[in-house]
Amino acid sequence: MKRRDFLKSLGATGAAASIGGATLMPGKAYARKKVDFGQIKSLKIDVLTETSWFDNDKFKKNIMDYGGAMTNQYTIPWIWDNAGGYAALITVTTLEGKQRKFLMDTGWNTDWMDYIWDMNNIPAMLKSGEIEFMVLSHWHLDHFWGIESTTKHRPDITIYAPKTYYPEDMALLKEKAHHKAKDKATGKMISICKNDHPHTGKLVLCEPKGEKDGIYPLMDGVAIKNFDVPILLRVRGENVLYFNIKDKGIVTVTGCCHPGILSLFSYARKNFKGYKPYGCYGGLHISLFENWKPKFDDIIKGVKAFKIQKLGCNHCTGWIWAEKAAAAGVPIVKGTNKFKTYKKYSTVAKASNVFLTNGDTVVF
Ligand SMILES: [Fe+2]
Ligand SMILES: [Fe+2]
Repeated sequence: MKRRDFLKSLGATGAAASIGGATLMPGKAYARKKVDFGQIKSLKIDVLTETSWFDNDKFKKNIMDYGGAMTNQYTIPWIWDNAGGYAALITVTTLEGKQRKFLMDTGWNTDWMDYIWDMNNIPAMLKSGEIEFMVLSHWHLDHFWGIESTTKHRPDITIYAPKTYYPEDMALLKEKAHHKAKDKATGKMISICKNDHPHTGKLVLCEPKGEKDGIYPLMDGVAIKNFDVPILLRVRGENVLYFNIKDKGIVTVTGCCHPGILSLFSYARKNFKGYKPYGCYGGLHISLFENWKPKFDDIIKGVKAFKIQKLGCNHCTGWIWAEKAAAAGVPIVKGTNKFKTYKKYSTVAKASNVFLTNGDTVVF
């Protein structure tokens, strides 16, 4: 596959696909029943790891060598050393002042995830139940294949995941699967992921109709919304988190943001009672391979139009987009240099610190 076609195919399934221009800009809300899902006092997000892979070129080459963006992720012999993972620890302070914790995602490379989990005391929090549950944003390798790092400490953890799974996903979660993919050059089967600690707990499979009013309320002021969208590497559907913070407004939290960030803001504006935009955190899936297209400027304009007051981004957002957005006045929360103390970091990390990266924290 040619580089240009490859980049084009990414655009067809990523954020850009749902950026329809004017219809997604703030304007008159449709008349429909607005949902009140309660409020929280505040939200803290610890970036456990956002480096899903360390070298863009190696990751891209793996995809291009095996058929491009729509290839089944389980058929690519991914370079293990290049794999990291995406995961965040979410701490909610309720209106009563109680702290409640859960995980978003469980990363990819289990060696990396064990390192990250140990550094952040995650094993103990899983064992004690301090981490109450996990929300899986979507079934992409970099968010899900590190499942063993979590289930080995807490096999019965409750998981909320998109209903749009494939048999390989469920085998990895529940059936001790050891998945392999064939290396074209050598003909050898290469181990790509495994889970010897199958999940035994409750699995809530999320779909767009939700449990109530289109959403899955997790606790007062916290909800999952499932968007059934086609995604790269034969994945479908993403769970997005919405938080309603008293006196501030809605914070949108994403794994990869495959439905498109303006679509997610737009959903909140149309559906949540007393909608006030406030913040956003996550991988925003824009210039993920540090390329640039004119429509990325439109996303900057769109985000500005929604008057988001605090935006923390990383992972598949693209440093180039985050830098341009910050320069254009988007209130990007800057990260620190803590990531440099980790045993590995991304080859595209820049001194501008426009990413909240490994070891950083943001409070909404
Ligand atoms: Fe991702
Ligand atoms: Fe993804």
